[in-house]
Amino acid sequence: MGYSHEELFSKHLSQKDPEVFQAIHKEFNRQDKHLEMIASENYTSLAVIEAMGSVLTNKYAEGLPGKRYYGGCEYVDVVENIARERAKKLFAVGDFVPHVNVQSHSGAQANQAVFLALLNPGDKILACSLSHGGHLTHGSPVNLSGKWFKPVPYEVSKETETIDMNQVRELALKERPKLVIAGYSAYSRVPDFKAFREIADEIGVPLMVDMAHISGLVAAGVHPSPFPHAHIVTSTTHKTLRGPRSGFIMCHPDFAKKIDSAVFPGLQGGPLMHVIAGKAVMFQEALTADFKEYAQAVVENSKSMSNLFKKLDYRVVSGGTDNHLLVLDLTNKSTTGKEAETCLDAAAINANRNTIPFETQSPFVTSGLRLGTAAFTTRGMGLPEVEEIVGLIDKALLGKKDESVLSGVRKEVAELCSRFPIYDWKAFS
Ligand SMILES: Cc1ncc(COP(=O)(O)O)c(C=O)c1O
Repeated sequence: MGYSHEELFSKHLSQKDPEVFQAIHKEFNRQDKHLEMIASENYTSLAVIEAMGSVLTNKYAEGLPGKRYYGGCEYVDVVENIARERAKKLFAVGDFVPHVNVQSHSGAQANQAVFLALLNPGDKILACSLSHGGHLTHGSPVNLSGKWFKPVPYEVSKETETIDMNQVRELALKERPKLVIAGYSAYSRVPDFKAFREIADEIGVPLMVDMAHISGLVAAGVHPSPFPHAHIVTSTTHKTLRGPRSGFIMCHPDFAKKIDSAVFPGLQGGPLMHVIAGKAVMFQEALTADFKEYAQAVVENSKSMSNLFKKLDYRVVSGGTDNHLLVLDLTNKSTTGKEAETCLDAAAINANRNTIPFETQSPFVTSGLRLGTAAFTTRGMGLPEVEEIVGLIDKALLGKKDESVLSGVRKEVAELCSRFPIYDWKAFS
């Protein structure tokens, strides 16, 4: 017999603020009953949630462990040191042990800290174009990175839809950027980190890898590590790493001082110590054999999903996947990304529209759909469920204008989700 969501998480909140409690409770039910295929989302453990809901949120701790600007930091120092040491252990490669800063509030702020540490306003940054799989924070004109720095975007090749390393080198030599970035939010192949480093070395600038999406796969050893090639690595902690919503930065020891002082006092004030505690718990979880198995299953599910879609005549961008995500090009299905997102939403399947390389639609409409396996694999879904899921998505897309088809799929999704609850309440009985 299990406890209710209310008893477990919100005994006080449900009494004191029923309005907020109700919204949280409904969101809990939505997560439990919907199929989450947004590639950047996951379900963190109850241990991480407890750490984040702790009294550590009360504590100011500007500075670093042992060098704080506030008193009373002896216990938060313990927590932050544990987080840093676990991250080092997790991402060390051979003899190489990175320096770690766990204070970034998010992936975007981790990237901003690197820019603050290494660049001056107006400097050029070489990074993947957003519509070819890059990220907003790597030089998009609507983001600080594109307003304060000059983006030099590289693309994927038309033939293979994988990163065109010849173009990366040509642009590096011609434009002489101050920073080279390899990092992606919708790229399903393994980037050639070694080749990126050779190009960065040729023009004498640092290589930053933003591994926000793949960090859990790297931690588990099912994706090549950007180390020791990258000088600096940024990441989120809430995607494949399955931790709290946050970020962190790792670097070669020669960049340690610059990075630490860019994070604080350069960019941020007090670190979120309760979230750092959640990161410490997550790093420990990621060191386990169970997590390695999970990450292997994420990639197996993704590869299987790609093959099954191809059998149903869907075009998978780049022809497949090596990680936790894939992008479908829906052009031959006479469906836009926006239409697909809307009809899947009606069927309780959450996914997001995505531009495809050499996109012809507007970024608001798009021709693509990005699908990820990290979240549903956490629920314990495996290859048989992937087959079911691909069938359900196909059915919803084919019946996109038929309410009865969509409500039928919604029922099947609810049944599937009920077999794999997001949290195992029995663990608490
Ligand atoms: C590659 C990459 N970098 C940075 C970020 C930003 O992370 P956050 O949303 O935590 O700021 C994302 C988020 O999707 C991402 O995919």
